[in-house]
Amino acid sequence: APGSPAVRPPLGWNSWNTFGCDISEAKIRAAADAMVNSGMRAAGYQYVVVDDCWQATTRDSAGNLRSDPARFPSGMKALGDYIHGKGLKFGIYQAPREETCAQYFNAIGGATGALGREQQDANTFAAWGVDFLKYDWCSPWGTLTDQIAGFTKMRDALRATGRPIVYSINSNSVHSNTGPSYNWGPVADMWRTTEDITDKWTSGCRADCFMGITEILDVQAPLHSWAGPQHWNDPDMLEVGVRGTFTPTENRAHFSMWAIMAAPLIAGNDITTMPADVRTVLTNPDVIAINQDSAGRQAQRVRDFGETEVWAKTLSDGSGAVALLNRSGSTATVSTTAAETGMPASAGYQLFDVWTKAGRNTTGAISATVPPHGVVMYRVRTGSGTPTDTFSLRGAGSGR
Ligand code: DGJ
Repeated sequence: APGSPAVRPPLGWNSWNTFGCDISEAKIRAAADAMVNSGMRAAGYQYVVVDDCWQATTRDSAGNLRSDPARFPSGMKALGDYIHGKGLKFGIYQAPREETCAQYFNAIGGATGALGREQQDANTFAAWGVDFLKYDWCSPWGTLTDQIAGFTKMRDALRATGRPIVYSINSNSVHSNTGPSYNWGPVADMWRTTEDITDKWTSGCRADCFMGITEILDVQAPLHSWAGPQHWNDPDMLEVGVRGTFTPTENRAHFSMWAIMAAPLIAGNDITTMPADVRTVLTNPDVIAINQDSAGRQAQRVRDFGETEVWAKTLSDGSGAVALLNRSGSTATVSTTAAETGMPASAGYQLFDVWTKAGRNTTGAISATVPPHGVVMYRVRTGSGTPTDTFSLRGAGSGR
């Protein structure tokens, strides 16, 4: 939305996909430490986001939010200070109706949603040093019109604090009333486009259930024109490395596709224990550079062969990015051309493989053998000569 600090897709980590409600200040501090020690901060990650279940079940006598005394005994201001002390930014969770999602669905008790107290809560968050709010409708109540009113109210409340706070919304619990796809660009800085993600390549879910990577790609593909600086489609947080479910090939494919779609890259794995191969995926500078390009374009699915697909976008420096995706369970050759990916006519092109770091030249054909559930992703430039350079993190990170 206008005024948003999210001029690039936000990069960060969120507690939900691994820990769910089982969070504590010790775990969040450990995650902040790991953001630094793993090299994620250096790679551009900024936001450490505490998801649902941080709140006490009641407000204080003045109606202010407070943290669960057992899970977050030092309070959220202290946690924010700790995160800021690591050179990172602090994200928190709230819901627009009577209850948070876990209070409603997981019956953990309490009713401390923001309804009627939007400005009070926004002021609390600003006083705690919050830099990112995830605002999760999570109520079976309401129409799209109600959601627009509710989400706009918190947008205005956040902006009225004067503190730059990334505004991330999820409208999806009333899909059956509102449909999954609405352009929230004037209201929010990023908005969920799908049901909750799960650590499956394909789950079979189309509505009201947990979606795998391929189902999310199908929802996200037609929404490309909505994405851009300060307004991002959010296909949900990353399952890269979560519980070790995905193979290294699947982790690379998932990360490549979220990157080329200009999606917020919010890691969801336990980064305090992640193996080196997962860390290498999450911190690949050439992939992050494609995600963080200042033009902020979401790749389009320029070819759909059924089991294989070509996704492409052009970047602010006139180069391109192309992902050759194999959704199937067997090895496949995926082919396209520089013209189909949106590159201008040229006598020759350079292809730089962002995973193997190999460079090669072509007069226009772009083709690769792609493993099952895999992606081959190239950065494409016009001209001759062998592309041996890496593109690295150029101006990545929102709000810097
Ligand atoms: C639903 C959201 O989609 C999840 O990402 C998470 O925030 C949960 N709610 C928390 O209850």
